[in-house]
Amino acid sequence: MNKISKKLAAYFTVSFLVLETVLMMYLHQNIIHSRVDEEYSRLLMSGSNHRNVLKDHYSDETITHIVLMEAEGNSGVIITGKNGEVIRSSDEELENLMPSLSFLQNSTIQNDRVVIPDWEDAPYIVSAHPYKLDENRSGYVLMFQSSEPIERLVKKLNFHFGLAGGTITIILFVIYTILSKFLTRPLIRMKEATEKLSEGKFNVSLPAGGNDELGELSVAIRKLATDLERMKKERNEFLASISHELSTPLTYLIGYLKVAMRPELTEEERNHYLMIIADESNRMKDLVKNLMDLAKMDEMTFTVSKMNFSAQQFIKDVARLVIPSFDVKNMKLHLICKEDFQVDADPLRLEQIVLNLLDNALKYSEGNTTVRLEISKEKKRTIISVEDEGIGIPAAQIDMIYEKLFRVEKSRSRTLGGSGLGLAIVKELVEAHGGTIEVKSESGKGSLFTVRI
Ligand SMILES: Nc1ncnc2c1ncn2[C@@H]1O[C@H](COP(=O)(O)OP(=O)(O)OP(=O)(O)O)[C@@H](O)[C@H]1O
Ligand SMILES: [Mg+2]
Repeated sequence: MNKISKKLAAYFTVSFLVLETVLMMYLHQNIIHSRVDEEYSRLLMSGSNHRNVLKDHYSDETITHIVLMEAEGNSGVIITGKNGEVIRSSDEELENLMPSLSFLQNSTIQNDRVVIPDWEDAPYIVSAHPYKLDENRSGYVLMFQSSEPIERLVKKLNFHFGLAGGTITIILFVIYTILSKFLTRPLIRMKEATEKLSEGKFNVSLPAGGNDELGELSVAIRKLATDLERMKKERNEFLASISHELSTPLTYLIGYLKVAMRPELTEEERNHYLMIIADESNRMKDLVKNLMDLAKMDEMTFTVSKMNFSAQQFIKDVARLVIPSFDVKNMKLHLICKEDFQVDADPLRLEQIVLNLLDNALKYSEGNTTVRLEISKEKKRTIISVEDEGIGIPAAQIDMIYEKLFRVEKSRSRTLGGSGLGLAIVKELVEAHGGTIEVKSESGKGSLFTVRI
């Protein structure tokens, strides 16, 4: 048996045993007390009847009659006289008990009462009923009831209570053991499943639980397993891509370096190669910087410091930064801000978002096209959209564009200088603001990115 089920069964059984013992003792004592009380009142009643009859018809005949009435069974009677002497008794043996009742002569008892109530130690319980007709005719009617029937009852009760208590305890122990096993089996399976997960084995098989907490836990563990498996796969893919991303420019660098070192090159040719080397180095620097940014975002170690600033001013500032690149490609940037309002965001991060989107619009569009940058307000949210007339994104790949290092056309991006990290960064930044990003795109027609923060 496993530990939890043992513990559960032990706790339940011990607590039930305590409860059961207390209740049974209470019931046991109650039954005995009421039975003894019954005996007392029966004794007192018949004693007082006899005494009344004796008082009303005091004669030898009455005394004989009373003694005869009590001669049978477990009870008995002694009638004493003025000095405590026995006038008559139903059983001679009872007279041997008279010394223990000698205290009756010294203390005067006015009312009927049980004078020896102790059924546990004494062989009889005794009640005394005083009578007095005149100076000479007085004394007690002493009623005796053997303690034996009560003792027998107590023994019987003890036996039955013991039997009932023992049976209930055994049944309960069995039920608790089965129940706790039933409860703990899924827990143990889940523990084994999590151990497998920590060893990197993700194919955990847990039965679908019910709608209770155990069922929910089992669902959560299965989800954890698939998430971990996916993350591990993603991490491996990412590492493979990143080493590829870094090794490609390095190969170029080394190649161009070797070429640039050739002594027969003219100054102009050497400068040309050095320029290429500088470009590639910059690309690598950007790539590493973007990777560092993403790592920080993943670790949540970067903060968003929101503040209020003018929407109009913001897009003007951003546009100023990108206009020269648009001019080079002979492209137009159309700014739309119908009315000015206050944006509540981190200005630097928002600038990073918009610059990345504009950079893509520029990179993935032919010359002589227009890009529209619009900023507007919807309820409390700021909406920024970047629309281009570029090459668009194929529908099959649109879901992947936010993945790190994903590029639709690797070869084309290479010439355009993209590393596939821009949109991953944009998405993290938008989400850090509590916002959303969505894209509509059609191959060959253009793309529309909408950010809501
Ligand atoms: N406006 C767009 N038009 C067409 N394709 C796009 C557009 N924006 C993104 N894409 C596609 O999505 C891919 C991922 O974009 P992302 O910005 O993450 O990377 P990148 O531009 O290639 O590199 P980086 O932004 O890191 O320099 C791009 O390589 C491109 O194929
Ligand atoms: Mg980009």
